[in-house]
Amino acid sequence: MEKTVVVITGCSSGIGLGLAVRLASDASRGFKVYATMRNLGKKERLLESVRDGHMDTLEILQMDVTDQQSVVSAAQKIKEQRVDVLVCNAGVGLMGPLECHSYQNMKTIFDVNFFGTISTIQAFLPGMKHRKSGKIIVSGSVGGLQGVPFNAVYCASKFAVEGLCESLAIILQHFNIHVSLIECGPVNTSFLHNMQRTDLDNSRLQETDLETRALYHQYLHHCQMIFRDAAQDTEDILQVFMEAINAPSPALRYFTTQFFMPLTKLKLTSTNGSDYVKAMHQFVFSSNQKRDDKA
Ligand SMILES: NC(=O)c1ccc[n+]([C@@H]2O[C@H](COP(=O)([O-])OP(=O)(O)OC[C@H]3O[C@@H](n4cnc5c(N)ncnc54)[C@H](OP(=O)(O)O)[C@@H]3O)[C@@H](O)[C@H]2O)c1
Repeated sequence: MEKTVVVITGCSSGIGLGLAVRLASDASRGFKVYATMRNLGKKERLLESVRDGHMDTLEILQMDVTDQQSVVSAAQKIKEQRVDVLVCNAGVGLMGPLECHSYQNMKTIFDVNFFGTISTIQAFLPGMKHRKSGKIIVSGSVGGLQGVPFNAVYCASKFAVEGLCESLAIILQHFNIHVSLIECGPVNTSFLHNMQRTDLDNSRLQETDLETRALYHQYLHHCQMIFRDAAQDTEDILQVFMEAINAPSPALRYFTTQFFMPLTKLKLTSTNGSDYVKAMHQFVFSSNQKRDDKA
């Protein structure tokens, strides 16, 4: 039986690595995974995670999603010359007060999260259209659906990804290509560690007003608590990816957690946005004490 050919971006760690291992080790041996990463020097972790005997189900390719040439040359190395499932997963976070971010930092976030997703889709879409078949699965975020304080640029990049995917999903119905966003809340990966973050000793932060600094301190504490209390394990996220990959007709959105749903729904039920803004403020800045008491 022909294997389902899957290309995944950002497989050096976290969700991408986990998904590559999950698919390459699938008991059906029905998947051929092209696990891509920008730095092949990091491939050992992936290789160590798959047991022996996956020569026929796993290949590792270099792909930096911000480098179009690298995306195109990875695409040319797909032996089957077709991709059934494209997983746009590479992503990076940016946290801090807006006035502390350099233009270059912000641009990098959009280059990876938004333009990187576009470049990857552009590379594989013509083939999928030609065959009138394919699935495009994107690592989305609750932060792509609702604003999160001190994550404005990351959220903006993920909002942009939402607009991209929702718009594509409409037209791609004609080509039997399904676009799906896996909307993750906090996940226990290296994401927090890998993200670009304004540190407390950052000189730009020292130059901001006292109130912003105090709120940022509070936010960092909240973030720590949320990851402690509500972060999901990668395995839980992978199950949702598998649901989308195996669905004959995958939906546009899959939520990995219901934790943020009351806040997400506020955007639809209270359309002028004020209730969401108040509720999110309360969630972040008024609940630290309660959660501390609970701990
Ligand atoms: N973890 C969470 O809490 C969370 C929540 C919501 C959404 N997400 C989304 O889930 C996705 C995966 O994140 P994760 O949690 O697995 O974090 P992660 O462990 O930090 O993985 C991110 C991956 O993206 C790769 N990457 C970064 N820039 C790249 C580039 N220019 N080209 C190719 N790959 C690049 C990283 O490679 P390097 O090792 O080379 O940097 C790494 O493999 C991201 O899109 C993220 O926005 C995560």
